Amino acid sequence: MKAFINNTQIAYSDHGIGLPVLFLHAFPLNRSMWAGELTALLAEERYRLVSLDWRGFGESELPNEVSTMELLAGDVAGLMDYLGIEKAVLCGLSMGGYVAFACLRQFGQRVAGLILADTRPGADSPEAQANRENVARLAEAQGTSAIADLQLPRLISDYTRQHQLEVEARIRQMIEAATPGGIAAAARGMAQRADSSDLLADIACPTLVIAGAQDAIIPLAEAQSYADRIPGAQFATIPQAGHLSNLEQPDMFLAIISSFLRSL
Ligand code: MLT
Repeated sequence: MKAFINNTQIAYSDHGIGLPVLFLHAFPLNRSMWAGELTALLAEERYRLVSLDWRGFGESELPNEVSTMELLAGDVAGLMDYLGIEKAVLCGLSMGGYVAFACLRQFGQRVAGLILADTRPGADSPEAQANRENVARLAEAQGTSAIADLQLPRLISDYTRQHQLEVEARIRQMIEAATPGGIAAAARGMAQRADSSDLLADIACPTLVIAGAQDAIIPLAEAQSYADRIPGAQFATIPQAGHLSNLEQPDMFLAIISSFLRSL
């Protein structure tokens, strides 16, 4: 389905009745990365499950050159308004988590709970910002296959690479389905994102932090340390998973989020 939000066609899915849970996807994938969680949680008959594609990914259009986290958070708020959802649990993985922090800053009173997976509150270092610009230019010059070649080794664990070829293939397919413009706009947007570390101590909603034990992008110790700064936050690690923990170890990821959501 599509909604016209902030002058942009945003693709989303919306199933079930109950506590609204919004799923925010990673870079440079799309909302189909949450298909397993959505199907399994729908069967629990307790939740309204919503996912959306960021601008330039999946089926959403891209009218802008830089997709800042604030702009994407505005799309989340716009979609909530459009669907008549006042408050929702946000489940964001990696870039989805960066957007979740922007949501917290912009409309924290509408966040009923937070699942932060394989993400970090901190901003990019100057070196990371320069890398983002390289990613943006590579996408523009060589297209999405070059991005898949570059990103895949960072995104999944050695275990996944060696033992789950179909998971790697699915991730490659998702990356190749993105648009070069969407990748460039999001990479430049992530480079500009604010440091949200100041928000941690004031997070008042139930929060679950999840970390892939072999995440090459967010070291486990860093995830544990920011989780420790969120009052009452739960922390879970997923063995044999890298950065895309829900795709690499779907059963364990699902069990962890399902038990958290049931506690709300
Ligand atoms: C993601 O998975 O969303 C990205 O890898 C995040 C990042 O590069 O910081």
